[in-house]
Amino acid sequence: MGTLINKRILLGVTGGIAAYKSADLARRLRDADAEVRVIMTQAAAEFITPLTMQAVSGHPVHMHLFDHEAREPRAGTALDHIDLARWADAVLVAPASANFLARLAQGRAEDLLGAVCLATAAPVAVAPAMNRQMWDNPATQANLAAIRGNGVGVFGPGAGSQACGDVGPGRMLEPAELARLLAELFATGELAGLTVVVTAGPTWEAIDPARGLTNRSSGKMGYAVAEAAAEAGARVLLISGPTALPDPERARTIRVTGAREMHDAVHQHIHDAHIFIGVAAVADYRPVQAAAAKLKKQDEALTLELVRNPDILASVAALQPAPFTVGFAAETENLEQNARAKLESKRLDLIAANEVGADRGFGVDENRLLLIDRAGVTELPAQGKAALARALIHHIAGRYHEKSRIKNSRQAHRP
Ligand code: CTP
Repeated sequence: MGTLINKRILLGVTGGIAAYKSADLARRLRDADAEVRVIMTQAAAEFITPLTMQAVSGHPVHMHLFDHEAREPRAGTALDHIDLARWADAVLVAPASANFLARLAQGRAEDLLGAVCLATAAPVAVAPAMNRQMWDNPATQANLAAIRGNGVGVFGPGAGSQACGDVGPGRMLEPAELARLLAELFATGELAGLTVVVTAGPTWEAIDPARGLTNRSSGKMGYAVAEAAAEAGARVLLISGPTALPDPERARTIRVTGAREMHDAVHQHIHDAHIFIGVAAVADYRPVQAAAAKLKKQDEALTLELVRNPDILASVAALQPAPFTVGFAAETENLEQNARAKLESKRLDLIAANEVGADRGFGVDENRLLLIDRAGVTELPAQGKAALARALIHHIAGRYHEKSRIKNSRQAHRP
């Protein structure tokens, strides 16, 4: 089954009485956790106001090829139709009028919606809605055959009584059905329908209001892992220590400071997670007590007393039932041996080991990982963190599904 979670849906609305249902459709797509932007044709605005579509989609509606007010997202081309075409994961035109189908069949680009449909590499689908005579007309049927031949999906239409009083084919499918058909376009996401919790970044353990203990983690790897999981269709929660990075677009992000706060945030949200990936460089120790006021220098030497922080990763792996739990091991020496020891002692499903040092791991853009579990070792060669994160998510998805299959077949064979 496909999912719309995190998907960017461009909803085209053309002129037809069924346009009143487009508002409900936009709302349903958002309820399914899709991001929705709307393009309306001039004729559509005769049936439903752009203000209504703006309210239900949460964004200004795009109407014209050169529209400076609704310019969003800003991908940098300064051309709305190219920005929108690149932004979309899918384009759905609902309702699609007979006139629009004719324009689409010819590849016309004189308006914004037509231009976007031509310029996008994302899948395009239409939900025709028109009077049954117009639907049955050989010209309409020839246009449909042409657009189907170009790879455009055609959802419906349904049959029944029509606004004009006729009965027959030409009714736009109901919004719930359109949302379901649209989700099926994305049935291939490896983590579709799953919830993933990721920790990232360093933690900050306060000594006093001005000073603290932290480490060199930039958060880049954890953020890339969260992005890659979202790209694979998962609903992602990123729990991040202090970083200079912007929140990933497709993940919900909770910002925390210290290890205990991170621990509490994780346990508040872990119960419906299928996969937990601990990428954060959590401080193992914190000062016994953070001073309320800034410490003044006094003696030659100062001793800080530290206490252990909770091990977040081990505490998640110990849950009954535990999600599929993945740890990271940052090591300066004996990479595989030390990582394997952590895999066993923390009872993880998988550990991703990377070498850190002066010029490796932290803060840099390229990284290499060894993925270790009980089945063996897989090496992901040095590459950019985004590509590495995608490869890691692909590996995790494979192992997660394998483990689920084994568990299900054991349950099925239990006497
Ligand atoms: N981790 C955690 N909570 C902690 C410490 C570590 O969740 N209090 C997680 C990290 O997110 C990482 C993994 O444990 O996924 C390994 O962290 P690392 O610091 O490499 O290992 P430690 O267990 O702290 O062992 P050591 O510092 O002795 O190498």
